[in-house]
Amino acid sequence: MPQIVFDHVTKIFDDEDLVLEDVSFSVEKGEFVFLIGRSGVGKSSILKLLSRQTEITEGKILVDGVDAGSLRAREVPFFRRKFGIMQADMGCLQDRTVYENILLALRSSGYSRRKSRGKILEALGRVGMASKAEFYPRELSVGEEARVLLARALVTDPQIILADEPTANLDGDRAWDMMCLLDEINRKGVTVIVSCHSPELVNIMHKRVLTLVEGVLVSDRKRAGYSSKALDIYEERRIRQLREEKNRQKK
Ligand SMILES: Nc1ncnc2c1ncn2[C@@H]1O[C@H](COP(=O)(O)OP(=O)(O)OP(=O)(O)O)[C@@H](O)[C@H]1O
Ligand SMILES: [Mg+2]
Repeated sequence: MPQIVFDHVTKIFDDEDLVLEDVSFSVEKGEFVFLIGRSGVGKSSILKLLSRQTEITEGKILVDGVDAGSLRAREVPFFRRKFGIMQADMGCLQDRTVYENILLALRSSGYSRRKSRGKILEALGRVGMASKAEFYPRELSVGEEARVLLARALVTDPQIILADEPTANLDGDRAWDMMCLLDEINRKGVTVIVSCHSPELVNIMHKRVLTLVEGVLVSDRKRAGYSSKALDIYEERRIRQLREEKNRQKK
């Protein structure tokens, strides 16, 4: 059975804003997957649905056979431990050192303080940041801070990394550096799902690419490059027209 299954998933915000429409795909353990598409097509929404930061409207999401929609509130934190999350609205706390930032993530996942030091230094080592453990975020470069966020995502030994635009603030070499780190982690068996805007990076990495247009999954290709559909306004218009047509028929 695949590690992740999206089975006809639809997400509607506030009863009217259709964000994802009938999205189905599955991901095997150890895959590396890009999510691409223009701004607002639903990339972050897919990642947030997966880690149960938001709930689906219709359909089903299974992770290791567990139905994310049927979890009780008290089961959600345990479920979330499957994931290491990098996303823009989860930055470093500026008044804590790198070490303390990662310690907080470990503690909130329920790990004991006793074993934490070794784990934190190991995670920092994996991203080449062990020597900066006592630095404050403001003392780091943008690229270094991004690596700390990756270390924080890794420290709980998650089976799946969800990285939402991990290269958004990074320029050429630094963005490439981040992709290489994600690739390395993936080679050790961790499933990696990355949303990405950069055609250049997606083309070089040559991984599986899921392309979204207007909340619809329009292509799913292995060892692929940046799909031209992701930027195709005609495709976008076609989907909107189909949707309007369907709505008219319903009325
Ligand atoms: N909490 C929310 N409430 C209402 N609408 C939301 C919410 N979160 C996202 N949306 C809407 O869902 C749509 C998809 O948003 P999402 O953040 O998934 O897009 P995205 O593909 O990640 O875009 P970007 O590339 O800009 O990050 C947008 O139209 C957005 O306004
Ligand atoms: Mg997004």
